[in-house]
Amino acid sequence: MINVSDYVAAAAEKVDPAVWCYFEGGAGDEVTLRANVAAYGRWRFRPRMLVDVSDVATATTLLGTPVAMPLGVAPFAMQRLVDADGEVATARAAAAAGTLMCVSTLTTRTHAEIAQAGDGPRWFQLYVLRDRGRTLDHIAEAREAGYSAVVLTVDLPYVGRRERDLRLGFQNPPPDLHLPYANLFENSPALTWRDLEWIRSEMPLPLVVKGILTREDALLAVEHGADAVWVSNHGGRQLDGVAAGLDALPEVVEAVAGRREVYVDGGIRRGGDVLKALALGARAAFAGRAFACALAVDGERGVAHALSLLRDEIALGLGLLGCTSPDEVARSHVEPTLPYDSPA
Ligand SMILES: Cc1cc2nc3c(=O)[nH]c(=O)nc-3n(C[C@H](O)[C@H](O)[C@H](O)COP(=O)(O)O)c2cc1C
Repeated sequence: MINVSDYVAAAAEKVDPAVWCYFEGGAGDEVTLRANVAAYGRWRFRPRMLVDVSDVATATTLLGTPVAMPLGVAPFAMQRLVDADGEVATARAAAAAGTLMCVSTLTTRTHAEIAQAGDGPRWFQLYVLRDRGRTLDHIAEAREAGYSAVVLTVDLPYVGRRERDLRLGFQNPPPDLHLPYANLFENSPALTWRDLEWIRSEMPLPLVVKGILTREDALLAVEHGADAVWVSNHGGRQLDGVAAGLDALPEVVEAVAGRREVYVDGGIRRGGDVLKALALGARAAFAGRAFACALAVDGERGVAHALSLLRDEIALGLGLLGCTSPDEVARSHVEPTLPYDSPA
């Protein structure tokens, strides 16, 4: 295993196809799923030479939380489907690496169990359920667990139609899997911008809005008090045919205009992908499947290894780009490969 793609290939070999379909698949024709990965190939670097890069640091901060690198673990659901320790294994690996982990509402381990995995930087991903009472119970449990921000996922009023799951008979929620807080189909389709205030009052932590793809919604997020905007198409699992994360990033960055931190996810496989995201204005990137694959192949050790591979690629990439820290990566460090068109 010398790169993330090795883990992607090995996970597909190892995991039962009737389970793996849920992790690797996207919605509809998977146009957006493919676009997420392809988008990075349409940008190339403009490295600068003869910069003193004898000290390269990958560390940064996200909403004031110190992290070892500008790449975090995206919230991905139901981790016990691929590893017995599930979210606890991922949390241990992320904490040891000093990397931010975002824990899904659809976790298979409790927040109390995850909190014991080590003192790592951790955010909490919230789905507001149709049942507001149960949402409040869930929030109350999460509050105890020491998370430092709430990530509200807004791109799932309904669950995307993931045809691999249908073909292979993947049952969601899986009948014998304990989900302590919710399953995917309990999310509230009635949620609106007005509810941000309510979430804030129940969980008074910095609020990140995840699933933004347009300048219009980026502006609304800022207006309604979001502390950060997370550009995401949910790994191509929701509305098929939307822009790749990286392709939606520039318009969101332009709309937010430096007032808030902006993150992006979708298709990250390399440290170089993270550097391209930074150059286009993201404060950090997140990856889901890269870590899901590593978890499936080798549990906590796999996630730890994938994190260290990506951290090393980010460090080497920074040095070769002529940067000594993530903050130094600028728009001038990338240009489109020609011709640049939107994804087919
Ligand atoms: C198996 C799987 C489960 C996911 N579950 C959630 C979830 O519970 N909550 C959420 O906000 N996003 C969820 N996502 C989306 C991820 O947070 C992230 O947006 C996406 O995985 C990024 O794309 P990548 O997998 O190509 O890195 C999930 C993604 C995958 C692959």
